[in-house]
Amino acid sequence: MQEKDIKEGEIMKIKTEDIRKTPYMLPERFEWCTLDPHNDEDISAIHEFMKNHYFENPGNLLRMYYSKNFLKWILTLPNESKDWLVGVKVEKSKLLVGMINGFSSNISIKGKMMKMGVVGFLCVHTKLRKKRLTPVLIKELKRRIALNNIHQAAYNVYKFLPTPICVAKWWQRIINFKKMHEVFPTAEAMRNLISSDPKSSLKVLEKACKLPNVNIKGFRKMTNDDVNEINKLLNNYLQKYTIRLNFTEEMGRHMFIPREGVIESYVVEDRGITDFISFFTISYRMSGTGLEYKVIYYI
Ligand SMILES: CC(C)(COP(=O)(O)OP(=O)(O)OC[C@H]1O[C@@H](n2cnc3c(N)ncnc32)[C@H](O)[C@@H]1OP(=O)(O)O)[C@@H](O)C(=O)NCCC(=O)NCCS
Repeated sequence: MQEKDIKEGEIMKIKTEDIRKTPYMLPERFEWCTLDPHNDEDISAIHEFMKNHYFENPGNLLRMYYSKNFLKWILTLPNESKDWLVGVKVEKSKLLVGMINGFSSNISIKGKMMKMGVVGFLCVHTKLRKKRLTPVLIKELKRRIALNNIHQAAYNVYKFLPTPICVAKWWQRIINFKKMHEVFPTAEAMRNLISSDPKSSLKVLEKACKLPNVNIKGFRKMTNDDVNEINKLLNNYLQKYTIRLNFTEEMGRHMFIPREGVIESYVVEDRGITDFISFFTISYRMSGTGLEYKVIYYI
């Protein structure tokens, strides 16, 4: 079908009363559970599960490692819906072996604001991969979202799944060359990270990664009182995008107020706030050596 033949809008009309009221069937010996991110035991179970089974790079050398504080923060977004943190456990041992979560968000598409489900984490135990547990997890979250009368959802994925409506590009730069070289001891691995000339020496790479010495007037850590101004600045900036999030005061407060080791936010103040930057931190662990490094992601 040509793009111009596709009519914009909802794909089909769904009535909430037609949505299945009971969870989907799971294979024998497994059961559904609803996890509570305010409960320390559940956070520990999620932390342990993700530490061993969440995103790894091809070759399984590196695994993303979320701290408990990070998980508490990201799983308690103000629009969380109580039963949208869905888990699959082994009936007998109560071991967590699958997880998906979502939250609701106001997303504007071509100027039309819609309440949508946004999918967060999706993870299946490494020993249960390729057994099609993923589609069941997705269907179950979809059912729970639909019971709240929300029939659209957004998610992002690294691999290609038809049909994307947005594509994002990741840019990365090394901040601490020595630390990264400890974790990636060969010159070739460092070259791959920096994606530079295959003949560059380590000295040249180190020089390329040197940080500029900048001093920005009015640059300071964000405080609770800055939330409204930041939200205004951010929402105005995002206006130019066809698809964008709309930050409510509650969301801005949760997302941007600094929390040690989790989220950092800074502003530039010059008769009012003129600029804003925010980033969260995730650790990566090398499976062979156990060495870790941190990556900061700008929001
Ligand atoms: C992503 C993950 C859950 C897929 O599990 P899996 O065992 O390989 O896949 P399953 O056999 O359960 O299911 C396969 C189906 O899920 C779909 N699928 C796989 N990854 C998906 C994703 N990230 N989002 C949506 N659907 C996905 C596949 O397209 C396939 O469906 P299809 O046959 O209709 O195309 C698993 O690899 C995992 O936990 N990885 C580590 C965490 C991770 O990378 N999460 C996703 C971050 S984007």
